[in-house]
Parts: sequence; C-alpha cells; structure tokens
Amino acid sequence: MYNTMPLTQKGTRPNSHAWLKQAVFYQIYPQSFCDSNGDGIGDIPGIIQKLDYLKWLGINVVWINPCFMSSFRDAGYDVDDYYRVAPRYGTNRDLYRLCREAHRRGIKVCLDLVAGHTSIDHPRFKASSRVGRNRYSDRYIWTSSAISDADKGLSLIQGNSERDGGYVANCFPFQPALNYGFARPDQPWQQPVDAPGPLENRKELIKIMEYWLGHGVDGFRVDMAFSLVKLDPGHKETIKLWQDIGQKVRAHYPDIALISEWGNPAEAIAAGFDIDFMLHFGVGGYPDLMLNENCFFRRSGGAGIGNFLKSYLKLAAKTKGKGLISVPSGNHDIKRPRADGRTVSDLKVIFTFLLTWPGAPFIYYGDEIGMRYIPGLESKEGGYDRTGSRTPMQWDNGTNAGFSTADKERLYLPLDPRRNRPNVEKQAGSPGSLLNHVRRLIALRKRSPALQAEGALIPLPVENIDRHFAYLRQAADERFLIVLNPSATPSSVRINGIKPDNLSPRICHGAQARVEGDDIQVNMVGVSYGVFKL
Ligand code: GLC
Ligand code: CA
Repeated sequence: MYNTMPLTQKGTRPNSHAWLKQAVFYQIYPQSFCDSNGDGIGDIPGIIQKLDYLKWLGINVVWINPCFMSSFRDAGYDVDDYYRVAPRYGTNRDLYRLCREAHRRGIKVCLDLVAGHTSIDHPRFKASSRVGRNRYSDRYIWTSSAISDADKGLSLIQGNSERDGGYVANCFPFQPALNYGFARPDQPWQQPVDAPGPLENRKELIKIMEYWLGHGVDGFRVDMAFSLVKLDPGHKETIKLWQDIGQKVRAHYPDIALISEWGNPAEAIAAGFDIDFMLHFGVGGYPDLMLNENCFFRRSGGAGIGNFLKSYLKLAAKTKGKGLISVPSGNHDIKRPRADGRTVSDLKVIFTFLLTWPGAPFIYYGDEIGMRYIPGLESKEGGYDRTGSRTPMQWDNGTNAGFSTADKERLYLPLDPRRNRPNVEKQAGSPGSLLNHVRRLIALRKRSPALQAEGALIPLPVENIDRHFAYLRQAADERFLIVLNPSATPSSVRINGIKPDNLSPRICHGAQARVEGDDIQVNMVGVSYGVFKL
C-alpha cells in the first residue's frame, strides 16, 4: 500500500523560523474583504477593522493579494508601481498601520509579490517599448523582429509598439515578462541570466522586497515564482536565482517568510522558499484531493486518498527538514470548496483534514464560514470563471452582508444572492457552526506540537481506502489519531498494532473509537470525522 515510515519536517531553518511551525495563514482578497469607506471596494482600513475577528479565529499570519498601483486588468496582478498602495485600497501609511495593528495582535503580514511581470502601463515597460535604446530596453524580453521570431514555449505579443520585436507575456498579453534571462540562450535576442538587464531586474526585485520589509511586512507570497528564467528545464536557473535573492534579502531580514506559487514544493524549497503550495497545476495530487469530480472529498466516494497521498509523501520526503508544504482550503484562482453541491458537513470533514495536516495551513477568506462559489458571474478584472470565488465576504445579516454601505450596484462584485447565505455573526454565535469547528481545530493545533507543521505524519494502512482515511500525528510523547470519512457510506476502520493507554475524543462527529485487544476499532457514519488523543 504505502509507506508507514514516520515523516517529520523537522528543523526548518532553525532559530529564525520557529514561528512558521505554528502558523495558520489566512488569505485576504483585499477588494472583497471589508469596505471601510462605502465606495463598494474592500480596503486596508477595512482589513484593520477585522483584525480582531482574525485574532479570535486564531489566525497568526495573513497574506494579502496584490494591493499595489495597478491597471486592474488582472485584479492587481498587473502592477504599475510596486512602491505605492493602490488608492482604492488606501495609502502606504494605511499599510504600515495594518502591519503595526496586526503585530499588536500577534498576526504577521505577507504581501503578494508579482515578480515575473508588470503591467503594460508600467512606466518602465513604456520606456522599454520605445524605438530608441534606453536604460529599460533590456528590462523586458523582446525578440528582434515583430514579424518573425516566434519561439516554442513562449507567448509572444507582436505589433503593439513601434519597437521592432515582440515581447514575451507571462499570462495575459498585458503582463509582459520581466527579463531575468534565458537558461540557455540560443537566439541573439535571448540574454543570459547574468546580462546587465536581467541583473538590474534582480536588484530591483530585492529593492522592492526590502522597501516593504523595512516598513514592517513579514514576508511575501511570490506570484508565478517558477516563471522567471525562460526556457529553463527543471527550473535550474530559476532555482539559483531565488537562492541568490533569498540569501541577499535574508541577510538583512532573517525572520521573513518566503512563500511561492510554484506548484512543486521540491523545486521551490530547493530554491529557498519556506513554503510552497500543492495546487491545481504543477506536481498533481491536489486536484485528486479537492477539485476533481471523483476527488477524495466527495460524498460519492471518489477515487480515494491514494493519488494525493502518493504525490504528497514523495514531496514530503524531498523537502523534509528544509521547508513546508501547504495544502490550502482554496484560493482566488480555483473554485471554493463549497461548490458542486458540497454542504457545511462536507466542509467540516475537509477542515478537519486541513488543520491536522503537516505543513502550513492556508484558509482562503470566507471558506471558514462555507461561502459558496458563485457560478455564472460576469467576469471582473480578468477573473473569468475565477470570479465566483472572489465575491464579498459575508459578515452579518445587515446591508450587503456587512461588507459595505455602498449601493448594491456599486459593490466590487455581487454578493451570494441566497437568503440563507452564511455569515460570520450568525456562525460565531452558534457552537455547531463551521466557523466554530474551524476555530476549535485551530486552537487544538496551536496547543499541540504533534499537529503542527513538523509533527510526524504516519498514514495508516486501512481497508476501503477509497472511502476513508486514517493517520497519526505525533511529536515527543504526544499522539493523535485522525479519521475521516467524507463519503456518504458508513465505514469502519480497524487499526492494529497500536495500544494506547488512553483514547479520548477531541473533535469528533459521527466517529467512535474504542480499544479492542491490541487494536483500535473505529466506526464511522457517512460524512464523519474524529480527532482522538492517544
Ligand atoms: C498567479 C495568480 C493569478 C494571476 C497570475 C498572473 O497565478 O494567482 O491570479 O492571474 O498569477 O499574475
Ligand atoms: Ca473602500
């Protein structure tokens, strides 16, 4: 079946990174979180107003999606000025104040760093597009002819300026790739990684990071971190580039968290990142857990935990002791977990998993109350089908669910139209709510080293693995047994060879466990979970 060797993720950058062991992250999409001034768009003062809520929930780090000056064709992932907060979110001073207020509550703040591309409206791209050579000519990747020169594996945008050449775009055509060089240049216009343009871009990136770190920011989630060096098999040169940047920045700021959107923790952690995600792209496994039609977290039983686990264990072995893997509840690019008919009971099983799993848990805003993915919304700021995961946070029963005092038509995106849409206020007051479940799990994790980032994970071989899953987490003499049955079918698990002195249920629903001789017998109704202290 699979390896039952204990896997620890011990000694992550000792001394400096102790705080990551206990970290529970919360991702804030700033335009949809809380609008403090009634213009219909969430903002930084709004986030400050909600810090007490995050503290109550047990969150100790937030990651805020891009909040810099932008043309907002891709919701801020098209930056015009990396040194200025977008006016719609407030001022730089508001962001400094957010850091201070968050720190007072024991919460760290990570920003989103779009390292690989700017917007076409960035003054440097405009300079780079000019015909005459200037200091920015080589800061983006231009081919030598606007007519030919197409290259495999690169997306070329041609004919948008009088400069003869096409530029390489990273994602959408308005996101020109910054020039960090090519791994093996084989065209005259492809520059090596140590050419002057690429080196200037590296320096600039460090300058941006240090600017915000100097104002109290605690780290960055780096957008498309894998994308910097072009035509780079195995991302070897990109890995070296990040090692270099990380080393330089950490020399001044040793305690920061660098989190990558890479989708391959083995590569990303080798590159010096502290955390990388399993995602909808990259190494695989996450879709088999959360997203596919037959994924593990489906009532229909799905294909079991096997595919996810195989991928996870491989990555865990490769990154052991060096960095953390994150399995997030969702994010702004994928469907929320509350989609495709999933109910709050299903979400409780999912969160039991996410918050008892090693590494760094990330909760996407609103997932903790079971906000729905809203299908069929008109695309907003390049959201397309991602738009349905980006609707305003639902705080209470008041106007616009407490998100904003603006007229409904002026909201950044429409709210979930359902009358029974979940909200924070209602769930905070209801002991059986998803929100209180998440809060209890976070509290248990924070006081139990075995459940934290580096506690050992021991998956248990059990029958009917297509329906359910059981594993141990342990550290020193502390040990937990976790059982999950997301399927609608009742199930039972017999775990042999563990003779606990004690077996006490901590956070359970529909799962009962008792010691029988040398075994533990667990009986589970459909859609159930149990966290037992052994
Ligand atoms: C990342 C972001 C996504 C954005 C893209 C281009 O994948 O998460 O939202 O569209 O990069 O910057
Ligand atoms: Ca606002």
